[in-house]
Amino acid sequence: MGRGKAKIGVSSVTANCVTKDMIVVNGQFPGPTIYAVEGDTIIVNVTNNAGSGVTIHWHGVRQVLSCWQDGVGYITQCPLKQGDSFVYNFTLQGQTGTVFWHAHTTWLRATVHGAIVVFPRDFTYPHTKPDDQFIVTLGEWWNGDPEAIEIAGLEGGGPFQLADALLVNGKPGYRYNCTDVEGITRFTISAGKTYLLRVINAGLNTEEFLGIANHKQTVVEVDGEYVTPTDFDTTYIGPGQTMNVLITADQAPGSYYMEAKGYSSVILTDPAELPAAAVQVILNDVPKIPASALFQYDSAPVLDPSTTFYPGLPAENDSSFAMQFENSLFTLRPQDVPLNATRNMLFTVGTASQFCEPSQNCTFRAAGEVNNITFVLPKIDLLQAYYFGIEGVYTTDFPDFPESPFFYTSPDSPPTAQQISKLGTRVSVLEYGTVLDLVLQGTMVFAFESHPFHLHGYHFYVLGRGQGDWDPINSPSTLNYYNPPHRFTVDVPSRGWVAIRFAATNPGVWFLHCHLEKHTSWGMQMAFIVKNGVGPDQTLPPPPPRLTACAA
Ligand code: C2O
Ligand code: CU
Repeated sequence: MGRGKAKIGVSSVTANCVTKDMIVVNGQFPGPTIYAVEGDTIIVNVTNNAGSGVTIHWHGVRQVLSCWQDGVGYITQCPLKQGDSFVYNFTLQGQTGTVFWHAHTTWLRATVHGAIVVFPRDFTYPHTKPDDQFIVTLGEWWNGDPEAIEIAGLEGGGPFQLADALLVNGKPGYRYNCTDVEGITRFTISAGKTYLLRVINAGLNTEEFLGIANHKQTVVEVDGEYVTPTDFDTTYIGPGQTMNVLITADQAPGSYYMEAKGYSSVILTDPAELPAAAVQVILNDVPKIPASALFQYDSAPVLDPSTTFYPGLPAENDSSFAMQFENSLFTLRPQDVPLNATRNMLFTVGTASQFCEPSQNCTFRAAGEVNNITFVLPKIDLLQAYYFGIEGVYTTDFPDFPESPFFYTSPDSPPTAQQISKLGTRVSVLEYGTVLDLVLQGTMVFAFESHPFHLHGYHFYVLGRGQGDWDPINSPSTLNYYNPPHRFTVDVPSRGWVAIRFAATNPGVWFLHCHLEKHTSWGMQMAFIVKNGVGPDQTLPPPPPRLTACAA
């Protein structure tokens, strides 16, 4: 069992040559790491002195029969108000690996996040045992206040301000003028040793490519689940994903830079339909300067120009690289994949121009949608409303399929009716034990981009992905039902689809959303209610004694 205190409050933090007051946990940025062993119970007493409402979500923790502890604002609990405290208490049942925690209200995740490392019970790994381990948290920095930037973006109805810097463990690195060698995250390594990097993309809005000069990355785990060890020069990681990578210090002793570079998957369907300025804004999708960190051999002088090396990375818009990377991952436990689906759904995910017809030229009044519904957060959390049968909070008519099928990725589609999404707090109800095959189909009115979709309370199998439209006749034969990777966040490719499968055996209310916060802000999300089965091990227990109060 592990116990800790998390005080959420304002501290002075410096990065990117700016010192500002920002909301962090225990005065640290990134926040403290939780180290645990598989099966441990974690108890964290969270106190909120942030001035605004906060919850803490344990991202990737499956929360078996503990949905009340999932920490999603207005989904599983109401946010802690200023001065409130709440004790989270959950067990890391049947899972190991790298996951993380983060605030799950407004844009606070930008500054309120930290790693969770779950060691296997006997400290043995199904891959080469590393000599040492490092946490590599990828993040973003805004010189201003992220919560204010979210509000400004929502009020403006258009894109949100880009981050001012990308970060590795809270530091932007050498490419940003203001940093010297002390302003960079440094990992000291010894020749011949093997290291496990526990990489977390805790950023809000930036999918990234990751490279380390001259060193191969062997991916051994994604999203806290082992995969067949596979070598890459570059890896890809979206917000809400984690990845364990082995590197061996097998190069001439020297200084080797790691770089984390923003990836933009935006494809405009028909730029001619948009004003040039708008095209510029859409394409200017990620910060252009990579974050960096230094892998320094302890036997070599620091940054001697003759022994300092830089990685090469794919082009910013190399979407085939991202797709190829995710297609190269395979679970080590094929025996666990459920054999057949008992229910099928297809969700379009994308953006719509919510408040007006495209012909009115107000294309930036954008809304996120899933099956053409823009999710509206309720005033009372869904879980409480469901458990206590409180009426009027949500409806259970979330559709299994888009209202009318269309060519999702054709420039002329979707038809006008689909371009205006409907507001609603709708959920989809799953019987206990349903094996759901769900296709997430990218679609958009004027431009496509990829979406790292995250499901709470579960890992799902990623059966496959493809470009263009999912074809119910021909696409299933392209899927991998044998050893698909087991993930909790998957990249829905730009102008393409991904198919996932999971068995709904964890009762509760579980959020499904794009983990790009700019899209969550626009409502690109929905929730599943998974009903109880029979017997206590299939039934959601009653809530903890003290629920956070919802506004009257
Ligand atoms: Cu990382 Cu809904 O969460
Ligand atoms: Cu998205």
